[in-house]
Amino acid sequence: MGTPVAAKAGPMSPEEITDQVVASLAGTHDPRLGYLMQTLVRCLHSFVVETSLTTEEWLAAVKFLTATGQACTATRQEFILLSDTLGISMVLDAVNHPAGGSVTESTVLGPFYVPESPERQMGDSISEMEGNGEPALVSGTVRNERGDAIAGALLDVWQNSARGTYAVQDETQPPENLRGRFRTGPDGRFWFWSVRPTDYPIPYDGPVGAMLKATGRHPWRAAHIHLIVSGDGFAPVVTHLFDDESRYLDSDTVFGVKPSLTCHYLRHDPSEAGAPAGVTGNWYTLEYDVVLAEVPQ
Ligand code: BEZ
Ligand code: FE
Repeated sequence: MGTPVAAKAGPMSPEEITDQVVASLAGTHDPRLGYLMQTLVRCLHSFVVETSLTTEEWLAAVKFLTATGQACTATRQEFILLSDTLGISMVLDAVNHPAGGSVTESTVLGPFYVPESPERQMGDSISEMEGNGEPALVSGTVRNERGDAIAGALLDVWQNSARGTYAVQDETQPPENLRGRFRTGPDGRFWFWSVRPTDYPIPYDGPVGAMLKATGRHPWRAAHIHLIVSGDGFAPVVTHLFDDESRYLDSDTVFGVKPSLTCHYLRHDPSEAGAPAGVTGNWYTLEYDVVLAEVPQ
């Protein structure tokens, strides 16, 4: 007969409870999942201990997370908004895409990406209605880290209209408004017409908006165009090009701005060569080269 383990007298300490829960996860079949679960438990338990969380506060958190789930629909992902506004998405980005070298930096994907945008011809406009904003010609070259042009690179682009919304959020816009895919030719060049993006607020009529309000934060994003650029043999980059005149560069509500991604829209008047047909006000040009990292074979 083995020596009986003496039952511990008195209540368990938080540390003992944590150790017990962590031990209960030791048999997880997938070792990575086991590691993630054990680490998550440790972090959550230490949050409760460090903050001396009250039962009322815990119930308020459960209520908030329940409301966050209930706010999700086919076109609205409140949990991604929560991840973005708490900076989790950008920490994830920093961990998975550390900065370095000449490769174009990444930033958040955001909740408004729609796959399978229309394939358009180089030089086309992605603007499909009046009132999207001031015309802007966006151009550049997709290159590798040695500076060579990448032929056949795919640019998937999307942005908001001057009314502050993406087509996917707004039934008054044609569904493919302000999005499109372009493939580079042998010179790696891309150019397409769009509009100069405007600052816009993320949806703030739900639980995430309530969290921003309670914490004294605004819901605004610095004006940007979204790009996913990919090419055979290269790591795709999910990124934005930010307007360097945006007033929210220093306080983007999802912490997505990186200095290397800010660029300047050159202002032109309607009489200048290259003005789009029928333009009566300012129009803009933006030039930005995208550098992709080769994937080692
Ligand atoms: C966006 O840029 O589309 C976006 C990113 C994060 C949260 C909300 C919107
Ligand atoms: Fe956006």
